[in-house]
Amino acid sequence: MSKSTQSPALKTDLRPATIAIVGVGSVGATTAYTLQLSGMVADIVLIDINKDKAEGEFMDLNHAAPMTTETQVRVGDYPDCADAAIVIITGGANQKPGQTRMELAAKNAKIMEEIIPNVVKYAPDTILLIATNPVDVLTYASYKLSGFPASRIIGSGTLLDSTRLRCNIGRYYGISSDSVEASIIGEHGDSELAVWSRATIAGMSLAEFSAATQQKYNKESLHKIFEHTRDAAYNIIKRKGYTAYGIAAALTRIVEAILRDEGSLLTVSIVGNYYGVKDVALSVPTKVGRDGAHHIMDLILNQDETDRMKSSAKKIRSACESLGL
Ligand code: NAD
Ligand code: LAC
Repeated sequence: MSKSTQSPALKTDLRPATIAIVGVGSVGATTAYTLQLSGMVADIVLIDINKDKAEGEFMDLNHAAPMTTETQVRVGDYPDCADAAIVIITGGANQKPGQTRMELAAKNAKIMEEIIPNVVKYAPDTILLIATNPVDVLTYASYKLSGFPASRIIGSGTLLDSTRLRCNIGRYYGISSDSVEASIIGEHGDSELAVWSRATIAGMSLAEFSAATQQKYNKESLHKIFEHTRDAAYNIIKRKGYTAYGIAAALTRIVEAILRDEGSLLTVSIVGNYYGVKDVALSVPTKVGRDGAHHIMDLILNQDETDRMKSSAKKIRSACESLGL
């Protein structure tokens, strides 16, 4: 047998885990594939209101199995969430070109009312990982619908945006994004902000790194990088109709942090009190491990960042209130 047709063993020193994905559209199916390639999980259950779609994705994914990992993929229903360490929620409407994430709130909140109680019924101890938009509002809605502690309802939040920011900064300076430490916080959406006051490359502030490498550093350049980051989804959706690879990688990264009990600080969204705004889900660097996610500190921000963070938090809170949450 040639190497490429052998079945590699699960690449893991982890306990075998089942992950359920509810909503097997572009994001759910790409996440299943990314998880399958990662070799981190033993079993992936696909659940969708559209059974044919779930079955089609299962058949396609199954053909990759002999050449990837031994991860088992199957189509299931809510009772199959019973063994799931994590249930990923990607079901619901996506944005049409030009539509904001917030415009999906009422429609997708109704879909959460259907999905979340069904998951909770069979998997009362699982961790819910929410990606459906507007993710912060729906993380809060899922918190209310599930009765779970905040630590077990994790929104993918601005992890994807932080990754986009690091890519864009890396590209601007001609270095790998691996060497950039930078975060987007607040809403995963139009009111998000870049924490420029804390961004570093090789431990140096961007101003210091720019001076040391004789590169341009000014407000306009930073603002362009930020706009490019904040508006990335609009620009992708205008061209291909949806986004999937970035969020699938972000969800896989969160799954990894949970299964490996990493205690990594990731910009995921959980319910808490932030910068004087109570009872809201949004992203700041948050500790993620086997028992879920914990908000352990507020970043120290400058005045402009604090003001923008408060207004982002208030925007999410008022979107929740308009849904009666
Ligand atoms: P899609 O239309 O391709 O897939 C949605 C899937 O959800 C469909 O297969 C549909 O049948 C299923 N679904 C609908 N109602 C359901 C229900 N009640 N129960 C089970 N399944 C149900 O959409 P997509 O592009 O995969 O996007 C899914 C969601 O993810 C959208 O809300 C989108 O905005 C969001 N998204 C979030 C991020 C992020 O960073 N958080 C990134 C990309 C997309
Ligand atoms: C994103 C989605 C659409 O890719 O929220 O940012």
